[in-house]
Amino acid sequence: MTPGTAGAPADPAADTATVMELLTGGVVAQTLRALAELRIADHLAEGPLTAEEVAEREGSHPRATYRLMRAASSLGLLSYEGDHRFALTGPGRALRADVPGSLRSLVLVQTAHAHWTSLAHFPEAVRRGSNQVKKALGAEIWEYYTHPENAEEAALFARAMGDVSALVTQGAVAALDTAGVSTVVDVGGADGHFVLGLMEAEPRLHGQVLDLPHAVEGARREAGKRGLADRFSTATGDFFTEVPPADLYLLKTVLHDWDDDQCATILRNCRSAVHEGGRVLVVEMLVGEMGQPDIVTRADMAMLALTNGMERDIDEFDALFAASGWRRSATYPVGGGQFGMELTAV
Ligand SMILES: C[S@@+](CC[C@H](N)C(=O)[O-])C[C@H]1O[C@@H](n2cnc3c(N)ncnc32)[C@H](O)[C@@H]1O
Repeated sequence: MTPGTAGAPADPAADTATVMELLTGGVVAQTLRALAELRIADHLAEGPLTAEEVAEREGSHPRATYRLMRAASSLGLLSYEGDHRFALTGPGRALRADVPGSLRSLVLVQTAHAHWTSLAHFPEAVRRGSNQVKKALGAEIWEYYTHPENAEEAALFARAMGDVSALVTQGAVAALDTAGVSTVVDVGGADGHFVLGLMEAEPRLHGQVLDLPHAVEGARREAGKRGLADRFSTATGDFFTEVPPADLYLLKTVLHDWDDDQCATILRNCRSAVHEGGRVLVVEMLVGEMGQPDIVTRADMAMLALTNGMERDIDEFDALFAASGWRRSATYPVGGGQFGMELTAV
């Protein structure tokens, strides 16, 4: 019997347990937040500690810290070594700051004000078929991040996107053929981690990030930090109006923020500006088979709560590409559950 299908033998106790378990999702997310905020994984980086030692280093309440770490061990993020001592597990290591594969910023931003408050309006979003972010935050999500009082949350969002980019860059570099490519524009590129990763792997490439004004400063800083400033530039602008010319456009986790018409506008703008023989690399998760456990359909719920967009299956992407002058010419997994889809102009 596959998940999500009718006809399983009756087992009311198991059914109740399943729903109770699912219902803990919100608490689990906020438990991750507390672990990330209190830097529990960083405190344990050098080896096991007791909850009381962690509480002393962090200045947190000893008994509450013990309870948090006990819950983390039940979630497989810490292992219990006896006598109130805990050690990091593999998944727990992903909560460390500033290590390759860190998901700490992603945890913090996905449990922060914008995401969390918008999710509180989720049933209404389903009823109306559109996000209720304006009601929740007083502004659409991208506008919310431009407000100076939300700068810290916006920076966290950009850092989280950069960390996720780091998960896919190696896979994309390995699969992407950059023959004939000189200029690469990362459309909605935030801190530029993706294009900068490609530039590090291929010294011939000149890269640019196109994003909203508040977002590109971080990309400039990141390029400087990596010693790539002489091959890198930023463009502030609106991808619904136009994009700068390029041999290759990167659209990483951008299309899932928008509805089909808006995606077609972005893709058509790329089609109008692309150099002869140029391409697009779209990086997104793909909705798979109906009823199978996955995180993509859950991400799709977040898209419904937060954006105009959605997660799509491969046929839905192909329809989008066909409607905007592109054809999918290659598809490959790039890591982190994401897929690269290369588009050629038709
Ligand atoms: C989900 S993030 C993806 C960031 C980056 N591509 C990555 O994967 O790390 C979407 C990005 O689109 C940018 N954005 C939103 N609306 C835009 C617009 N109208 N024009 C240009 N960029 C926009 C946001 O500022 C944000 O950086």
